[in-house]
Amino acid sequence: MSSFWSVWIIALTVANILGCFWLIWWTMRRRAGEAVQGDVTGHTWDGDLQEYNNPLPRWWLWLFYITLFFAAGYLALYPGLGKFAGLLGWSSHGSQYEGEMAKAAEKYDPIFKQYAAVPVADLATKPEYKEAREMGKRLFLTYCMQCHGSDAGGSRGFPNLTDGDWLWGGSPEQIEATITNGRIGVMPSHAHLGDDQIEKVANYVMSLSGRSVDAAKAEEGKQVFMTVGCTGCHGMDATGNQMLGAPNLTDSTWLYGGSPGVIKQTITKGRNGVMPAQKDLLGEEKIHLLTSYVYSLSQK
Ligand code: HEC
Ligand code: HEC
Repeated sequence: MSSFWSVWIIALTVANILGCFWLIWWTMRRRAGEAVQGDVTGHTWDGDLQEYNNPLPRWWLWLFYITLFFAAGYLALYPGLGKFAGLLGWSSHGSQYEGEMAKAAEKYDPIFKQYAAVPVADLATKPEYKEAREMGKRLFLTYCMQCHGSDAGGSRGFPNLTDGDWLWGGSPEQIEATITNGRIGVMPSHAHLGDDQIEKVANYVMSLSGRSVDAAKAEEGKQVFMTVGCTGCHGMDATGNQMLGAPNLTDSTWLYGGSPGVIKQTITKGRNGVMPAQKDLLGEEKIHLLTSYVYSLSQK
């Protein structure tokens, strides 16, 4: 926040509090020559409903004063006035968040360290490491669930991590690399091919997973597939390439959907799925536990 906005906020806040203070003081004050308490003001509604000129109840006024003093005290002690940090120096980040994180680290770091030395395949499968998988699962529910789902079953655009079908590879090393450095799927747009060719190549793609399609279109689509560069990423046999995260197009597992409309949209507009890197956020030891948990999901 720049100094200007800080001063602006402080001035506005203080002016508002003083303004409220003045307003109650002003309404409470007796003014000479005004109607005596209890007099009607002369406003009448619904025939006989009259407005009296009574002062506000005293308890209500005191409550009002108390909230004003509370606000002044709070703003003096805690951050709230622009850049002023408050006399106590409290901050949600500094004192509270980091304090709690440090406490948690003291408790869990030795455990993470101990598991970090055990190979992923052992953590994922051996009965004595059930606790490690539980910890991995809790980490997953905190950091991964929002995209992959609480059961890691994924959804459109977010891969299922339990099915043994991998974009980037399912070995412990590949999974660890995916989580550590993130992945970006690059399926380029092919709008330049035009609707007709896209229609044909989409028919070919669908034929690969045994769907009933227009055979003539699929045959022409195969020529398109072989000549415009699809094979460079998906392979000659369209079974994909884990170095590029290019999916297998011959199975019935779809990342974005296998309906004719969605396949055409994928080819026309391209896709760019992003798995965010977790290295800086989580560190090696937590990633090791997460890898074990993810790896365990497809080891049935
Ligand atoms: C530069 C490499 C590259 C080229 C060229 C390429 N693809 Fe892809 N394709 C990918 C990647 C990577 C993905 C996964 C995208 C993601 O993860 O977001 C993908 C995804 C797809 C999907 C979606 C699969 C699913 O499970 O939902 C289809 C369909 C597809 N490509 C068809 C084609 C066709 C047809 C061509 C040629 C016209 C083509 N691709 C060319 C890399 C490529
Ligand atoms: C912001 C959403 C998001 C979050 C959060 C996220 N992921 Fe992903 N993840 C993705 C997407 C999207 C992909 C697919 C990338 C692509 O299209 O190639 C992916 C891919 C993966 C893959 C590779 C799957 C394969 O088939 O090869 C693994 C493993 C994975 N994520 C694990 C995790 C773990 C563990 C976490 C938690 C630390 C996590 N992800 C958090 C979006 C997310």
